[in-house]
Amino acid sequence: MDGKQGADSPQCRLWNGPKGQVWVELQSLLDQVFKPLEDLLMEGVQAGMPDRLLDVGCGTGSTTLAAAQILGRRQRCIGIDISEPMIAAAQSRARQQNSSAAFVCADAQRHIFDPAGFDAIISRIGVMFFDDPPGAFANLRRAAREDATLSFVAWRSPAENPFMTAAERATAALLPDLPPRQPGAPGQFAFAEEVHIRNVLAPSGWDRVEVRSVDLPCRLPEKDLILLITRMGPLGGLLQEADIDDRARVIETARAAFDSYVRGTEVHFTLACWLVTARASAGSASAAGGSDA
Ligand SMILES: C[S@@+](CC[C@H](N)C(=O)[O-])C[C@H]1O[C@@H](n2cnc3c(N)ncnc32)[C@H](O)[C@@H]1O
Repeated sequence: MDGKQGADSPQCRLWNGPKGQVWVELQSLLDQVFKPLEDLLMEGVQAGMPDRLLDVGCGTGSTTLAAAQILGRRQRCIGIDISEPMIAAAQSRARQQNSSAAFVCADAQRHIFDPAGFDAIISRIGVMFFDDPPGAFANLRRAAREDATLSFVAWRSPAENPFMTAAERATAALLPDLPPRQPGAPGQFAFAEEVHIRNVLAPSGWDRVEVRSVDLPCRLPEKDLILLITRMGPLGGLLQEADIDDRARVIETARAAFDSYVRGTEVHFTLACWLVTARASAGSASAAGGSDA
């Protein structure tokens, strides 16, 4: 990773470890599941047609590649991610697709971007993992020109996303070591509360903040459901790392919790998201608040 910034943080270790590997291995399935989120962000890209776009926490690159396709070769699309295996996968996809998208492996929270270098910053569920969110968004503000657009999708609460938490809820009684969710901590549901999003963005140099609640219908082939259950989320992590007694029973119990989502050969579910948009505030970008950088 460039400059090893943040290289010892828990999130960096996580995304450069088994979690990053799973996202690489399941790239095609995850991109299929999260395509409605990508479409939502691409509507904004299409409307704004920025010359220079940054995709934060771009992972294996789907949204950066989609933006580059929309904007064409004369525009600059950069994806930044803290995970070396995910960035390697994104670079390989860009070569295969002959895309002009480029990728940087670095911590977006601390990376020293060219000041005012971007007209648009996007992210598909890639901005909830910072250990200092105001500092991170202030850093992104410095990377944005005045009036640049910020547009990202983040998850609403676990309660509003029962599909995503069904496996851990169903198996909790069987697995005392299953790590509990910590509300507000860096991770999947860190931006579940609208007020928290606003409290992060306001002091970080972003204004005209709009937080829109969006429910997106998603689907995946039923044959792939078991992969999501056994590889993703807290249960997936535990199954990969720990020697679990009666593994088969745990998996069977988790799978049964999804029966109500199965329709024939497909699984149908709704993802509860926030679509957050904002503008880089007027004034000196270097004055943007936050505790970092
Ligand atoms: C849930 S994944 C989403 C990946 C991608 N946006 C997608 O939709 O497929 C979150 C991503 O954020 C990245 N990430 C976490 N903390 C980061 C940081 N501080 N700087 C850059 N990327 C980070 C992870 O490595 C991971 O790729």
